Amino acid sequence: MSEQALKAEKLDGADELAAKRAEFVLDDGVYLDGNSLGALPVAVPGRVEDVVRRQWGELRIRSWTEGGWWTAPERIGDRIAPLVGAAAGQVVVGDSTSVNVFKALVGAVRLARSAGAGRDEIVVDATTFPTDGYIAHSAARMTGCTLRPVPPSEVPGALGDRTAAVLLNHVDYRTGRLHDLPSLTAAVHAAGALVVWDLCHSAGALPVGLDGHGVDLAVGCTYKYLNGGPGSPAFLYVREALQDRFDSPLPGWNSHAEPFGMRPEYEPAAGAVRGRVGTPDILSMLALEAALEVWDGVSVDAVRAKSLALTDFFLECVEAYLPEGRVECVTPRAHAERGSQVALRCPDAGEVMGRLIARGVVGDFRRPDVLRFGFTPLYVAFADVERAARVLAEELA
Ligand SMILES: Cc1ncc(COP(=O)(O)O)c(C=O)c1O
Repeated sequence: MSEQALKAEKLDGADELAAKRAEFVLDDGVYLDGNSLGALPVAVPGRVEDVVRRQWGELRIRSWTEGGWWTAPERIGDRIAPLVGAAAGQVVVGDSTSVNVFKALVGAVRLARSAGAGRDEIVVDATTFPTDGYIAHSAARMTGCTLRPVPPSEVPGALGDRTAAVLLNHVDYRTGRLHDLPSLTAAVHAAGALVVWDLCHSAGALPVGLDGHGVDLAVGCTYKYLNGGPGSPAFLYVREALQDRFDSPLPGWNSHAEPFGMRPEYEPAAGAVRGRVGTPDILSMLALEAALEVWDGVSVDAVRAKSLALTDFFLECVEAYLPEGRVECVTPRAHAERGSQVALRCPDAGEVMGRLIARGVVGDFRRPDVLRFGFTPLYVAFADVERAARVLAEELA
């Protein structure tokens, strides 16, 4: 047994989250792709069956009221809120991340302008996940703004009295770099602008502290670290102090103050509900609600501590097992700059990932040359990490 295999045994023995693994459906492979699609929590299939057979099949329309379907977006939002450092009443679940980026960004420009005229620039993370960039481009055209793509580290120098809103990713989807949310938020505020954070790669992976850092708006998906399932609805956070001025660009009937009044004039509801649009996708949403039960009794700080230990250990194994210079690590070494994934660059990454998957080690490949490994502390063990690095070394030898 190698030194690293022995160490993995010890680390797993001391892991306070180890028992959580039994709450997921897994096989004997190594799943390091939970930063793309989280694993299935054991409780979900039974809940979905109940929602379909009893709530829909037997109760039918009554489930909208008696079964709590109508209020699910806010209720589930309140379950996600503590995971991202938000008090209740500020998070609503529904629609995709892309749609929520649109609501949040156009809403942020409108909020900035309601506080004073003359702001006509949107700053967007130049390294962003593409959907945010596409939507920012459209939001800029619709609001008469200029779009400025800027690398996150250069954002403070790019801000000024023309800046209306800034759209940033908390963790870079490709490199796994964690951006400095507190200081970037403070810089945006010092310029009199509003910030929108995309939390897709941090919600459920590390502490976010939305309220504590005074974030204005945020969005995130629920199918990665929150294990909501393929295409599960995203979430939207609007800080309480901004809610009564939040002017959604998608004011559907579900965000109306009196949705069943069927009035021709729109009057926005108060609170997080204002972020809703149309009829919620109940099947996905209630699957997500069941999935969130795995968080009962789990602290995000414990998840973060294990996440850093997992990524540290993976880097240690990669260094010990892989031929020197065969891969280049593009994920920062510093804990303060690392999300919950490790990205390794090598010219034949696509082919290598194919071989890893064939051997039961599932990560993913991001063009043109990145091997991406996601570490989901609720169900990844240190033994998985050692095995993944060992198989990777064999394939690269
Ligand atoms: C940072 C980021 N934003 C947005 C998305 C996707 O948005 P949507 O949920 O609308 O497909 C992803 C998907 O991986 C992502 O990583």
